[in-house]
Amino acid sequence: MPGALSRRSALSLLGGTMAVAATGGSGWPAAASGPGAATGPAPGPGSRVDSLIGRMTIEEKLSLLHGAKDPHGLGQAGYTPGVPRLGIPPLRLADGPAGVRVTRHATALPAPVLLASAFDPGLAREYGRTIGREGRALGQDVLLSPMVNLIRTPYAGRNFETFGEDPLLTSELVAEEVRGIQDEGLIATVKHFAMNNQEHERESIDVIVDERTMRELELPGFEAAVRAGAGAVMSAYNKVNGAFAGESGPLLTGVLREDWGFDGWVMTDWHAAHSTAAALGAGLDMEMPDGEYFGGALRKAVADGTVPEAEVDRAAGRVLTVMDRFGLLDGGAPPRPGRDPGAGARTALKVATAGGVLLRNERGTLPLTGPAARSIAVIGPTGSIPFVSGGGSAHVVPDHAASPLEAIRERAGRGARVDYARGEDVFGKKIPAAALSPAAGLEKRKVAAGKSWTYDGTLTVAEADEWTFVLHFSGPPTGRPKVLLDGEELFPFRAGLGEYFTGGFVSATPDGLAVRRTAVELTAGRHRLKVAAKGGGEGLTFRLRRTTSATRAADVAEAVRAARAAHSVVLFGYEDATEGRDRTTVALPGHQNALIAAVAEANPRTTVVLNTSSCTSMPWLERTGAVLQMYYPGQEGAAATTALLFGDANPGGRLTQSFPVSDDRHPMAGDPRRYPGVNGREEYSEGVRTGYRWYDAEGVRPLFPFGHGLSYTTFAYAGLRLRRRGSGLEAVFTVRNTGRRAGAEVAQVYVGPSPDLPLDQAGRSLAGFRRIHLRPGQARKVTVRVAARALSAWDSERHGWVLGTGRRTVEVGSSSRDPRLRGHIEVRHGS
Ligand code: BGC
Repeated sequence: MPGALSRRSALSLLGGTMAVAATGGSGWPAAASGPGAATGPAPGPGSRVDSLIGRMTIEEKLSLLHGAKDPHGLGQAGYTPGVPRLGIPPLRLADGPAGVRVTRHATALPAPVLLASAFDPGLAREYGRTIGREGRALGQDVLLSPMVNLIRTPYAGRNFETFGEDPLLTSELVAEEVRGIQDEGLIATVKHFAMNNQEHERESIDVIVDERTMRELELPGFEAAVRAGAGAVMSAYNKVNGAFAGESGPLLTGVLREDWGFDGWVMTDWHAAHSTAAALGAGLDMEMPDGEYFGGALRKAVADGTVPEAEVDRAAGRVLTVMDRFGLLDGGAPPRPGRDPGAGARTALKVATAGGVLLRNERGTLPLTGPAARSIAVIGPTGSIPFVSGGGSAHVVPDHAASPLEAIRERAGRGARVDYARGEDVFGKKIPAAALSPAAGLEKRKVAAGKSWTYDGTLTVAEADEWTFVLHFSGPPTGRPKVLLDGEELFPFRAGLGEYFTGGFVSATPDGLAVRRTAVELTAGRHRLKVAAKGGGEGLTFRLRRTTSATRAADVAEAVRAARAAHSVVLFGYEDATEGRDRTTVALPGHQNALIAAVAEANPRTTVVLNTSSCTSMPWLERTGAVLQMYYPGQEGAAATTALLFGDANPGGRLTQSFPVSDDRHPMAGDPRRYPGVNGREEYSEGVRTGYRWYDAEGVRPLFPFGHGLSYTTFAYAGLRLRRRGSGLEAVFTVRNTGRRAGAEVAQVYVGPSPDLPLDQAGRSLAGFRRIHLRPGQARKVTVRVAARALSAWDSERHGWVLGTGRRTVEVGSSSRDPRLRGHIEVRHGS
């Protein structure tokens, strides 16, 4: 019997619930509230859901349990048709984390990592509401978001889609975001359950992780979402301790339903189903986006008695229970609101402005005022092409997007001089026809549907050089031209899903063609070049271009000239991440480090604005005046960046992940078993030392620590008082704005280890935080409640939380490495 089996393994692998320490205090994980959040009664005999199931044929029940093709959709990710005869409407399921992903325009919000940087649960609620309303307005019923997998490796391709490396911060934010989404009547899906912390081999990798690490680090975000009432959970692609997450009884039944009381439904990630009876028995309810295992195969399994129909009823009942809770069974879906693009844009601007993190600011480089605001060189490709979002399923079609250059010009005003130099040509330059024999135009060739075009000739290069070949092409990745240089394919098919997911701006030309790049060391002389292109369904358009050392040097020289001629420089650096692909280095891609070093050398009043997915190394840091981390800032990114640069807004964002100095100095460095995994296994041997916990334990200095972020004003902390509240505690202190500008401070409370727990504990862990706005000179008494849970550890022997009693150190400060106040308190079990 699968149920009994799963429960047994739940206890041994993950642990059941033992209320050793009660959850309380700041509510981590937070309790349910809000209209969509009620965890309604499970269907029982006589309930509406039960009576519907009693009237459904097996085909009708199965139609609720797997995806199908939508006859009328907006290109959203998933669809189930419903049962019209019984008044059960279809469900439309759309991504995702930074806005509603359909073929129509929607508000492209800043990436979740930027939202998280604001350390503001209220803003997470507003962010959720914006997506919730838009999703309903755009005909959707279910949102495939939020993503709460922790940032564990700096290389993971989806780090921008999630919140950060700390479970408490993630939990507090995701709870509010789920409430916001569901306040508007859209069903939230927390994903990817669980341990989907990298893209490399994501569909097969087996994550080997111990119970405590899972419970203390990765799972709290999911738990908080479930307790906030999330209607659905999406299982992850990867395996966890030997079983695919989507057929893991310990996870789907043990943790989710038995421990946390989840009464919604679990769907697979896309094309992540692997079995019928095993998956259903383990607790999976819905296969997406089609019905390979939960369609005809399940019908057959029920018919031949392999799967009891009661298991189908149970899964259908879970889907219907959530639909009922959201009023979808009341005779047609509740009325849909209209879109409000203006309100969406306001939220997008607010979040991007609140989340921007000022990493460095020397010699008063920022804000740009006086002469610094009147003579500016804007440099970098993302200075003139808006970098709205990352690639993959979190990509949204934005309502609009201005470039930073336009926004800076407008803000600087008439009397100012704002020049632009691209610094790097991301789309390449024409290959001169004369370098090709026979001469051929490789610039914007159109090959009609059903036709072919081939070139077989010689490319002559005067001297040895590194060329970056850039291919622009229309249509799907499989339709792109084949390019062979000296018999080697220049753009081979990428293994895994990396081929299908393209990144944000540098992966598409302004005229909408997809882009691939390959750097090649060319020897002087003749090289055989072959190009074979076939016009697919709608024909094929392509260009083959390149950059050379000379073109790159000319771009850098132009940037340096612009930097010298201007009083101040704003240089935009980028990293174009996407789902489906991890990056291979924490360095900025391409030749950007050399560009930044040259520009900052030419003008030390250089501010580097980073549009990156996650942390980056910065070998040029000491030469720059300032660094502003904006991640993927959404459709209002230009306005937000400009407001922060000119001081119209004061930066108040904080890092939600540690930035390493280099590829050799972070928790994954030097151990391929940790990352990217060896022989299909990935060991979480760092245990509970994720992120800043690892830097602290190993005594490694990060480039910038978790919680770091500067302001244009200064804050002073005073008067820490600690008192017990139940089994938790309360930290009371005063924060004063001691500078001349209004601004927001994020006061962070960290706790030290418990002397009574014989476990490897973090030197400090975030236990609470508060974002406070203060006018110049204003002081505020701040109370941060620390839940008992934030003082507890997971006991793998007893499979439960255990309170870390005894004398604990409490630090209050401005980052994980900037404590301003310190105190001690005796933690005890309280009532
Ligand atoms: C992603 C999910 C996403 C789904 C539907 C998958 O590739 O991992 O996060 O929701 O596609 O687009």
